[in-house]
Amino acid sequence: MSDAFVSPAPAATTASVTPAAVEVVGVDKIFTAKKKATVTALEKVDLTVAPGEFVSLIGPSGCGKSTLLRLIADLDSPSLGSISVFGKTARQARLDQEYGIAFQQAGLLPWRTVTGNIELPLELHGVGSAARKARSAELLALVGLSDFAQSYPDQLSGGMQQRVAIARALAESPRLLLMDEPFGALDEMTRERMQTELVRITAETGAAVVFVTHSIPEAVYLSNRVVVMSPRPGRIRDVLTVSLGSAAERTEQLRENEAFFENVSRVRELLHGEAPVGIRGVETR
Ligand SMILES: Nc1ncnc2c1ncn2[C@@H]1O[C@H](COP(=O)(O)OP(=O)(O)O)[C@@H](O)[C@H]1O
Ligand SMILES: [Mg+2]
Repeated sequence: MSDAFVSPAPAATTASVTPAAVEVVGVDKIFTAKKKATVTALEKVDLTVAPGEFVSLIGPSGCGKSTLLRLIADLDSPSLGSISVFGKTARQARLDQEYGIAFQQAGLLPWRTVTGNIELPLELHGVGSAARKARSAELLALVGLSDFAQSYPDQLSGGMQQRVAIARALAESPRLLLMDEPFGALDEMTRERMQTELVRITAETGAAVVFVTHSIPEAVYLSNRVVVMSPRPGRIRDVLTVSLGSAAERTEQLRENEAFFENVSRVRELLHGEAPVGIRGVETR
């Protein structure tokens, strides 16, 4: 139940037992480039994600969602403040492969089979061939692609390619997944199916997820909490706790429920808080 995330246990007990999956404290990110205006992409961002929690970042284009995700992934570093992942520095967490990453483009290697793509991170980290085979078979079953083990990426639909990318991100059983609009390039029906799959997969693996999207229904459907960001400078405007039940209760029918619509409306209101006329770059369907 999402209630577990509403009132976390006191810091004194959680800190010593299980550190947060992600802890962002007082983070600013300022981009400066020669002959260009300085951009404050993030300002005073504080965010804690509990182990196993699903948190979405939503906000208009350019509000700093991808920047925040990149900082957590140690693909860039904050100008101010600190970030830890399972109690480690972002850098150490990256070296320890604490998280898997999936982006809007599946980013598969076209000359490798589905299995070859999924096994790639394991190969790079010296996992033996038998263990790799066992793991990729398990992951293919998890994402429903067992029949496509020997196919090449260009033989798969966009949704299937994205499932391969998710399987690859899960290869090393990370406790955290960082996802930046992973379903953004998919048609609406495929996208909804992928969302249902992702709810199931994260429930089965117990991984925490930080998920960037600009779709309100997607954020509501997937998340324990929705973090609403505002642009220029990117700040956290509000955080909404979604109480739509466990993964098992998040079925396709949920999308027709009153409670679902209520949460969608609440996120929409939070997003439009200071600018009621509609914000470019956010899907309100
Ligand atoms: N490497 C960079 N150099 C300069 N400006 C950047 C860079 N990356 C992002 N920005 C700027 O930071 C702001 C936030 O970008 P981004 O995090 O990509 O937004 P979002 O993912 O929410 O659409 C934007 O104004 C963008 O132009
Ligand atoms: Mg982005």
